Amino acid sequence: MAQQKSVKQRNAKNRTNDEQQQQMNGPNNNYSNTRHSSKQSRAGTTTSSSSSWKQSVFQGLALSVVFFFLASYLITDTWLWGYKGKYTNMRYWFPAKQIVLTQKELALYDGSDPKKNIYLAIKGEVFDVTAGRPYYSKGGGYGFFSGKDASRAYTTGCFQTHLTHDLRGLTAEQLADIDGWASFYRNHPKYFKVGTVILDPINPASPIPEDCNQPVSPKPSS
Ligand code: HEM
Repeated sequence: MAQQKSVKQRNAKNRTNDEQQQQMNGPNNNYSNTRHSSKQSRAGTTTSSSSSWKQSVFQGLALSVVFFFLASYLITDTWLWGYKGKYTNMRYWFPAKQIVLTQKELALYDGSDPKKNIYLAIKGEVFDVTAGRPYYSKGGGYGFFSGKDASRAYTTGCFQTHLTHDLRGLTAEQLADIDGWASFYRNHPKYFKVGTVILDPINPASPIPEDCNQPVSPKPSS
């Protein structure tokens, strides 16, 4: 009898504890603790496995990058497998502030002053070619291109008579040729675009520059 009483008392006590727990958790939340903790442990396992998966992917990538550069350096003596182009030019990533020059201003950068940068222009785009000073300084192999827009000469090769931006009479192929030179400077690992030049309009009444490669028609003898 005493045993029955103590069992009843224990059950009553447990019920009171359960009721208190339910009040704290709110209604309709039976067994929430048990469920919660099992969910938590499952979530914990998923999070930790996904984060360790991410970590190994990251480590794999980092190792590949290191391997890429090291192998390149060991095999080619360069960090990028010998690649030299616009992407290795810091100006591609940090472009220079673009300027607008008159033809007179552009002429100041013709390579005659060793302390000044050297600029040249193609179809109005101005490029800094200081890195190629041996070519573009006064007396250099291609010094006649400096300080001006001599687009025409880039395709005709008339380095004395075609140092002009007058493109009249050129074929589509020749014009494409000039564009090719502009991209050469644009995508060069050491040259870069600095801005534009305002070009004087070409007088349509002026004669088209004569092609230096064509035989000059013999003058009628007197
Ligand atoms: C329309 C004709 C031509 C034009 C517009 C032209 C233009 C140029 C330019 C702008 C450069 C400098 C490249 C730089 O800044 O790195 C250059 C370099 C050079 N050109 Fe010409 N060129 C022409 C014809 C020729 C011819 C016919 C020869 C050969 C007989 C030649 C031989 C060279 C050589 C050896 C270099 C140096 C290449 C180097 O060391 O990277 N070019 N040319």
